[in-house]
Amino acid sequence: MENTIGNKLYNDVLKNHKRELEAFDKQKREIHRLWNIDAETAKYLFEYIVDLAPKKIIEIGTSNGYSGFWISAAAKVSNGILETIEVDEERFKLSQNNLKNQTNIIQYLGLAEDIIPTLENKYDIAFIDAGKIGYINYIKLLLPKLKDDAIIIADNVISHKKSVQEYIDFMKSDNQFENELIEIGTGLLISKFKRNRV
Ligand SMILES: C[S@@+](CC[C@H](N)C(=O)[O-])C[C@H]1O[C@@H](n2cnc3c(N)ncnc32)[C@H](O)[C@@H]1O
Repeated sequence: MENTIGNKLYNDVLKNHKRELEAFDKQKREIHRLWNIDAETAKYLFEYIVDLAPKKIIEIGTSNGYSGFWISAAAKVSNGILETIEVDEERFKLSQNNLKNQTNIIQYLGLAEDIIPTLENKYDIAFIDAGKIGYINYIKLLLPKLKDDAIIIADNVISHKKSVQEYIDFMKSDNQFENELIEIGTGLLISKFKRNRV
């Protein structure tokens, strides 16, 4: 993606947060089942989000906080806040420690299905990266929580195509979404939402 300001800011984060990023790399090597997005996807998301200048972002699936680190770093540029949900207590605790220096993150421990209905904000961006079968439920619960022109980004739409097929079909069948497949990492589906578009 051509994005010079985003690219410069990305390099600044790499330089200024070297120690935190090395700690993420170490965890990735030592702990199985973190399922982090890869570095290329992190860079893409960072630059994409800097460009959108969001105020409120919701992430479903924190794991140890790697994607949350990059998303919150991008949101910081526009004084935005990331809220992120994780159901697994161990990964939640890891993420709390990994993200302790980020000042613009609110973390929730619990099932996204329980927490989303309690959220009071309206979001510019939703990043969906939790249980794959659950994507269809998350988006249905998220709909009333999205701003009228929100962006929804779903990960693993290539690697877990079968498990997320119901989600993909739903997004394609509803005129409120304009979808674009981004073939990096495990595959991102970026959906531009226009509420009530017919
Ligand atoms: C693919 S990992 C997230 C990776 C993270 N986004 C990253 O790139 O660093 C998915 C996470 O979602 C969590 N999860 C799965 N189902 C969930 C649910 N229904 N509610 C909340 N979290 C869930 C899992 O425990 C797991 O840690």
